[in-house]
Amino acid sequence: HQLHAAELERTFIAIKPDGVQRGLIAEIVSRFERKGFKLVAIKIVVPSKEFAQKHYHDLKERPFFNGLCDFLSSGPVVAMVWEGEGVIKYGRKLIGATDPQKSEPGTIRGDLAVVVDRNIIHGSDAPKTAKDEIALWFSHGELVSYTSNAEKWMY
Ligand code: PPS
Repeated sequence: HQLHAAELERTFIAIKPDGVQRGLIAEIVSRFERKGFKLVAIKIVVPSKEFAQKHYHDLKERPFFNGLCDFLSSGPVVAMVWEGEGVIKYGRKLIGATDPQKSEPGTIRGDLAVVVDRNIIHGSDAPKTAKDEIALWFSHGELVSYTSNAEKWMY
């Protein structure tokens, strides 16, 4: 009776401490869910500073690196893995441009955030980073494979 979904693309999405503190978890999850993407892993954690540095290792030369790592480790983060066709690229589209001053209305950051260092959500930017970030935040057993009923009408 094990359900096995054909393996679709997966991405790592995190609601940062500002999004959690502002009560935006349900709003953000809802946007991914209504689009038709499938939640295959979720947990709430307070990352250590060292863990945040690992997550953002690509940015260690940037002037905002230290502040960004302090921020990510400043409170609870909702870590998720979402699955679906094109979810990496389209997930970034749902999120909107990095700087909320530039993100379009209708996007998560466009509708819900104002400044770049409090932009409420992170999403993997490419297949390689998605794979690495999922492996950093989750163990294999925390990912759940299943077929949702809705999928039969979407694909
Ligand atoms: S950049 O500037 O092109 O590197 O931007 P980007 O690759 O989209 O951003 C990478 C992450 O860095 C965050 N960021 C910042 N944080 C604080 N201050 C400033 N000025 C700043 N600029 C970019 C940005 O939100 C990205 O974080 P995540 O969590 O990945 O969205």
